[in-house]
Amino acid sequence: MTKLFFLLSGENETLPAAEVRAVLEAEGYTYSNPEVLDQVLRLESDAKGVKAVQIRSAYTRVSAQELLVAEANYLAISNAVAKTDFSAVLKKGESFVVRINRIKNYADAEINTMTLEIKLGRQILDQTPGVTVNLRNPDKTFLGVITTSKLILGLKLTDITSKTFSERRPRKKPFFHPSAMPSKMARCMVNLAHAKVESVLLDPFCGTGTSLIEAAFIGCHTVGVDAQRRMIFGTKKNLAYFGIEAEGLIFGDSRKIPLVRVDAVVTDPPYGRSSSTLKSTTIQLVKDVLVSAHALLGVGQRICIAAPKVLNITRLGAGLGFRHVESHFAYVHHTLTREIAVFEKASQ
Ligand SMILES: C[S@@+](CC[C@H](N)C(=O)[O-])C[C@H]1O[C@@H](n2cnc3c(N)ncnc32)[C@H](O)[C@@H]1O
Repeated sequence: MTKLFFLLSGENETLPAAEVRAVLEAEGYTYSNPEVLDQVLRLESDAKGVKAVQIRSAYTRVSAQELLVAEANYLAISNAVAKTDFSAVLKKGESFVVRINRIKNYADAEINTMTLEIKLGRQILDQTPGVTVNLRNPDKTFLGVITTSKLILGLKLTDITSKTFSERRPRKKPFFHPSAMPSKMARCMVNLAHAKVESVLLDPFCGTGTSLIEAAFIGCHTVGVDAQRRMIFGTKKNLAYFGIEAEGLIFGDSRKIPLVRVDAVVTDPPYGRSSSTLKSTTIQLVKDVLVSAHALLGVGQRICIAAPKVLNITRLGAGLGFRHVESHFAYVHHTLTREIAVFEKASQ
């Protein structure tokens, strides 16, 4: 087990840390001692898990091997650095740089990030034989994150770019509809549902196909259902735009899905605002889709579903044979906060 930490996006308070944990779980990596700080998740796991997080995660910026944690003041940091053997990760002949990232304005009275970068650079240089500093093209980068009252310093393992997500935002797709979900959120939901490579993921309200696209990008087979023909054609167009084969697109009703088994369900039913509930209500559609999903999933498999917070969907799943795993809340605008709930099928 390696001590790791992940620098997380500040786009949501709880989704990013939950996503990292879900990716590790989906890919079969056990982890221990998770600790969530503001925009940082610390845990111990197999270092290979960071690759999976790099490939799959929407809300992780950087992953690192943790080397030390200190109170965020110069003296405590210098003492902790003195006790750390950098030669374990920085070999003779290698170059390095130190980069410090401050979350919000934590410890800004105590620490100037540029001063800390220089101080740490000197100290690591002094205590590690045969290494050099290279600011432009270093062999190794030590990343320090100041969050809450702590500095966490580690060896950067992967950098994660969110560029590909912005290329897939709803307005960039050939078929756009205002009800479309942001691609990062859809990817995160796919991860929370524990979708795996080669598994079958269903979105029973697929709309413009956002979740199908995000699932296909991590290697899932996908099936989308929508009760509006134009949405099905629109999804087909969007999938084709990203070179994804439309394996299963059904113009039909989510309450009567003509399938036998799927491995994960990710969905965002209509809220009756920008997308119509087609003579039903959101709450009824959520109940009905939970019943359909229960019949299609195996025990232990998951549905990740979004709905307006006011509906309190957490209470619905339990009565329908699901265990409520977790819920997260995402503010959209003053009249809409989404609840993103994860349920696991508890029994047949
Ligand atoms: C909120 S939108 C989904 C948006 C989608 N997540 C996206 O990112 O594009 C909900 C979709 O549910 C569809 N819908 C409404 N009632 C349905 C039903 N009974 N069965 C299947 N689809 C339905 C609507 O046509 C709409 O496209």
